[in-house]
Amino acid sequence: MNQPLKLGVIGDPIAHSKSPIMHAAALRERGIAGDYAALHVKPDQLEDMIRTMREEGYRGLNVTIPHKEHVMQYLDDLTEDARRIGAVNTIVNEAGRLIGRNTDGIGYVRSLKEEAAAELTGRRIVVLGAGGAARGIIYALAAENPDRITLLNRTPERAEALAAEWNDLADIVALPSSRTAEALQDADLVINTTSVGMHPHTEGVPLDIELLKGTEIVSDLIYNPLETRLLQFARQKGCRVHGGLGMFVYQGAYAFEYWTGVSAPVDAMRSVVLANM
Ligand code: ATR
Repeated sequence: MNQPLKLGVIGDPIAHSKSPIMHAAALRERGIAGDYAALHVKPDQLEDMIRTMREEGYRGLNVTIPHKEHVMQYLDDLTEDARRIGAVNTIVNEAGRLIGRNTDGIGYVRSLKEEAAAELTGRRIVVLGAGGAARGIIYALAAENPDRITLLNRTPERAEALAAEWNDLADIVALPSSRTAEALQDADLVINTTSVGMHPHTEGVPLDIELLKGTEIVSDLIYNPLETRLLQFARQKGCRVHGGLGMFVYQGAYAFEYWTGVSAPVDAMRSVVLANM
């Protein structure tokens, strides 16, 4: 008989994380014995926590703010994507070896395909923002063979640095805000990764919606509110819209699948998160 799986999420703060209820529902739905804990870990406790993970035989941890970068130094190996993104959100304990992975970007892409029926191959994608959230999703989008990924950011140097760092992965270009209209006029998919429009500043909109000409899908990583002003305007313009909740659900789905080897019950996971918003 297998021991119950020990799982959890580490962060600071952690009280508001929806990961514990989401993974508890997933374990229940799949009939897997396990416990997923919310672990409040301050930066100076991180190394000890990883030692505890080894000693107590945790099968896996999710990692959230502010530990995604710092945790990497304590792990035994990193997947290629985690290493290049420079952040780990999922640790898998493979027979005592702690492997750091990043499921944020691939979770986002799976959500985009499943929930918005997005076609990415050969498409022109515009990404607003060049911060930590953008890194994960741009890396995953680049693997889908898009025609081009155009980055627009308030601080253009950040977008330029990202485009230069990853020019081996795909055709990634950074444009200054003076060329926003040009970037948007033939975009198939526009993705907001900035915090503009997030609760409590829900009035914010990260781009002039009138600049969208024939864009098929507008996606926003924000999920509080579930539908940002950007998405409301895009919907009125006839675009298909995709909110950020799916990224959260599918990053968890991938983590669950790595830990258990069982397909994640995505609908049950989404339902329990929505019911607890
Ligand atoms: P995250 O991990 O959420 O991406 P981050 O690394 O701080 O957080 O990045 C935030 C992103 O939102 C950046 O692209 C930031 O633009 P800058 O690089 O110019 O800072 C963008 N952002 C935040 N507030 C913004 C605002 N008011 N207008 C435009 N962009 C904004």
